[in-house]
Amino acid sequence: MTRAGLLPATAPPPAPTPPSPDRFYRDGTGATAIMSVAHFPDEVLTFLQMECLAAFKTALEGPCDAVVELGCFDGRALEVARAAQLRYCGIDISCGAVAALRERIADEGLGAHATALVGNAQETLRWSHRIPGEQPLFVLPFNLLGNLPDPRRALTGLRALGGTVLISVFNEDPRTTAVRRAYYTQCVSELAEPAPGRYGGTLFRGAQGFRSESFSAPALHRLLTECGLQIRSETTNRLGRCVTAHRA
Ligand SMILES: C[S@@+](CC[C@H](N)C(=O)[O-])C[C@H]1O[C@@H](n2cnc3c(N)ncnc32)[C@H](O)[C@@H]1O
Repeated sequence: MTRAGLLPATAPPPAPTPPSPDRFYRDGTGATAIMSVAHFPDEVLTFLQMECLAAFKTALEGPCDAVVELGCFDGRALEVARAAQLRYCGIDISCGAVAALRERIADEGLGAHATALVGNAQETLRWSHRIPGEQPLFVLPFNLLGNLPDPRRALTGLRALGGTVLISVFNEDPRTTAVRRAYYTQCVSELAEPAPGRYGGTLFRGAQGFRSESFSAPALHRLLTECGLQIRSETTNRLGRCVTAHRA
């Protein structure tokens, strides 16, 4: 009798592997599409400007000896580190983004002060031994927190590393949701109708596991408190907010 002959006739098929929630950014062209300026509605630029200035102010106020940007793509916060004369490390789940940023770092002769790593913002223990500084400023730019399947895991991981955290997120205002819809329509296929998110905001989903949610102020504040982070300052504009926090 063959081995196959020993199997019960009604053996269930193997369970399908659940799709990875990171594949939009990790596997394909998602990171390039969503981070392309050509896909941003104009209003988004003021949001990014606010975020950059908030990061610079936080870096200068200290205590801070390095800037670590999670979801860095092309390294916008490298300019913050350069202006504040701090070391820089960019971390992104997309290998293509990290390769391009490394090339930029080399082209600009910044190799002694700046690095880029492939890593997942939620898996701090996998990359924490490779980041510079004793008191880093962790920058979570451009609604990265709203992309993460498990924001608590990322925030509690960062809390354990010490330093300061700067989080930039979209708000729940209907106008912001309309701007986000116009933005994601440019770069996410099979975009679903927006639905309520977990943190008082609006969740967009699309092909390849794309997910992005916004945050209401009370829900974001509660999340940070529950993760053991104390808010130090906050800057807001029409589209969102930048919150600086440290270990409570
Ligand atoms: C900063 S987020 C931008 C999100 C977008 N603006 C939105 O409204 O949802 C995009 C960048 O974060 C990176 N990214 C996404 N998830 C990540 C993760 N878990 N860890 C590290 N980088 C991640 C992507 O590869 C991409 O370069």
